[in-house]
Amino acid sequence: MKKIGQGLQFNVYDQGETVRKTYTTKLQMIVILIRWSPMLLFNIRLLNKTINIAIRERASAICEIERRGIKRSLLANLKHDGNTIVQDKVLVLGDKLSDNDEAKTWIDKYIAFIIACWKNGFSEKTYNFTINNGTTERGDVVLMDIGEITFKRSEILEAIESKRWRTSWSYKKDLSQELRRYYDKAMSDNLTQKNFEKYWKPSNTYGQCIHQ
Ligand SMILES: Nc1ncnc2c1ncn2[C@@H]1O[C@H](COP(=O)(O)OP(=O)(O)O)[C@@H](O)[C@H]1O
Ligand SMILES: [Mg+2]
Repeated sequence: MKKIGQGLQFNVYDQGETVRKTYTTKLQMIVILIRWSPMLLFNIRLLNKTINIAIRERASAICEIERRGIKRSLLANLKHDGNTIVQDKVLVLGDKLSDNDEAKTWIDKYIAFIIACWKNGFSEKTYNFTINNGTTERGDVVLMDIGEITFKRSEILEAIESKRWRTSWSYKKDLSQELRRYYDKAMSDNLTQKNFEKYWKPSNTYGQCIHQ
């Protein structure tokens, strides 16, 4: 299988119409984190802490998704298959932003997607939409990366209140100045506490996640 992606939490392989994701090992995480931030070599405690958080959030996301009745199409029809995950292969949103007008339409669609997630009782909380979200051929925005998903309303409220998107990679590195301005205003106008209360609907849960 051809490897087409790699983040901190998953190795991603092409299977044609779908992708298969395997868990990154601790050693892979060390290499990735030091590549992202070489200073971590001199702060082993922080390196370890970051790895432990990533492992815990990955395990939690997988278990929580499994036990909840959320619309799987929002997650590119994610399915669990043993120790791996299978998802529809989608187009990465960051590859759709070269034309400014088109990019603004994708930003609007991404915000509508976040609200659709609220209606399903969850949200991704880092807003790295250029690398973690994609679109189906029909043009529906989906979440590829489940690693930083939360089902807790307090965490979502905190993320929108602090405008968490302003510190994310996508905002700082992947957008032109004009798009950054457009994105920040659209996010601030729409991801409000008032809208959250209006659209939030907790998902039904079945069973328990023991690790929490
Ligand atoms: N369903 C998918 N379709 C196409 N590419 C994908 C898909 N899922 C992941 N990728 C690619 O792999 C990369 C890493 O996957 P991601 O789920 O974000 O893993 P991580 O949680 O480790 O960051 C993504 O940024 C994207 O380029
Ligand atoms: Mg990712």
